[in-house]
Amino acid sequence: MPGETVTLQAGQCGNQVGLEYWQQLATEHGILADGTPVAFPSKEFQYEREGMSSGYSVRNDRPELFFKLSSSNKFTPRAILVDLEPSVIAKCTNTLPMFNPRNVHLSEQGNGAANNWNSGYTYGYNHQEEILNLIDRECDKCDNFSNFQLIHSVAGGTGSGVGSLLLELLSDRYGSKKLLNTYSVFPSNEKTSDVVVQPYNTILTLKRLIEFSDGTLVFDNDAINSIENALFGISTGISNDAFNNRGSGAFQVANKLISFVLSGVSNPLRFPTYMYSSHESIFSTLIPSPDLKFLSASIAPFANLSNFESHVSKYNFTSLNEYDILLELLNDRYKMNKVSGPVNYISMLNYLIGNNLNQEEIRKGTLKVQQRVNFVPWTSPSAHSINCKKSVFTDREGFKGKSLNGIQISNNTSIIHVLLKTVKQFDLLAKREAYLNFYTESNNREERARVMDVFQECKESVLNVIEEYKACQAMSYLEDQNAEMDIV
Ligand code: GTP
Repeated sequence: MPGETVTLQAGQCGNQVGLEYWQQLATEHGILADGTPVAFPSKEFQYEREGMSSGYSVRNDRPELFFKLSSSNKFTPRAILVDLEPSVIAKCTNTLPMFNPRNVHLSEQGNGAANNWNSGYTYGYNHQEEILNLIDRECDKCDNFSNFQLIHSVAGGTGSGVGSLLLELLSDRYGSKKLLNTYSVFPSNEKTSDVVVQPYNTILTLKRLIEFSDGTLVFDNDAINSIENALFGISTGISNDAFNNRGSGAFQVANKLISFVLSGVSNPLRFPTYMYSSHESIFSTLIPSPDLKFLSASIAPFANLSNFESHVSKYNFTSLNEYDILLELLNDRYKMNKVSGPVNYISMLNYLIGNNLNQEEIRKGTLKVQQRVNFVPWTSPSAHSINCKKSVFTDREGFKGKSLNGIQISNNTSIIHVLLKTVKQFDLLAKREAYLNFYTESNNREERARVMDVFQECKESVLNVIEEYKACQAMSYLEDQNAEMDIV
């Protein structure tokens, strides 16, 4: 039986993506902004649920895995919202009053972490009891608590610094018993880096992701920006302008794309099928070893997404069937990590989201995908597909006929490119010891040297992951690992 997920969202990016995510989940489960369930549109799904009030007793979904249903019949997201400045959280709670105000942690100073990992981490450290109390309280409300998911950016101050501390704290408190996944947004480098110290913040956060996350789905803002340009002929401006204009909605399309992937990941749990009934089963299919846990996503076609009516794509996707969508998901244009050069896959999970899926088209499409991509030589070259149900609330009239979507979550070597990009940006700053004063108190030579050592240690961890992804392309990869285990 799948258990409940508690979501933690930290910083501007974490909360803005989180807001889109909860809107998507609420739409799929027919929940109004204030948490009121709308009447179920059809009785075709005869799936009796216990404890639901009348008029609401027959449904095929499991919203309670992500929402708590109160005695007054209102749904509340199982989410903790953390930020050090109030504007984005205010936007979240104004847009979706369903958020529990007691699950919000805001800094009293209200001036953010100044894009500094150190400030975010220190703030989190000094307020750990309060934040952990919120988290424990939310977990206690679950009948069968299963896992945490953290939504954040790795590059600012709060999502990266508080996010890193949360990873440490949760790993310490809940240890190996509960899965801890992250949805981590990586900064744009194509445009002028919107904050000059982003590479330092990113490298410090990566160290914690490497140590404490059980699986990290990486979203590269550069790739997402290209997708928007290609599909809608717009750029939502993941740039200086957008950054300076906090909470302006400048990232809205990017965040819708990300949140569609996030909601897709848990689709088979929320709309139960006979396949993949828990987060553990999904992530264990994707992650063969803790050393290879950075995942990539792609999504197609964008134009069919619910909540996307206002953005009309240049492309006509209405006639795509299951076969087409499986192949579209391989298209570099739809990948949420920048791809450069050949990519080798370690694992691949294709989610086809629609009703009355055509199994023959899926079978043909899956075979074609397996012929087209390279898998690392030590794994079985199989692309897994999940038949996902579409919510009756999003499969409504007007969307019929173009209601098939797909997402792909995979573990592949394109992550090398994202991590190398970070290391290169880091080296540019570090070789001149630029802006180190942001991370020291007195900025004396000894302190600078100490900070530099910490940075270098983090960089080493990232380089090790890059090496691991390079090494896994060889046939001898598993043998090398076995040899290491023999030495231990
Ligand atoms: P402080 O502002 O220092 O308190 O930290 P923070 O965690 O709130 O910072 P933020 O989340 O703004 O992180 C900055 C990085 O995230 C930059 O690379 C931004 O381009 C990116 N970013 C900010 N908001 C969003 C968003 O809503 N969506 C996406 N995709 N990226 C965002």
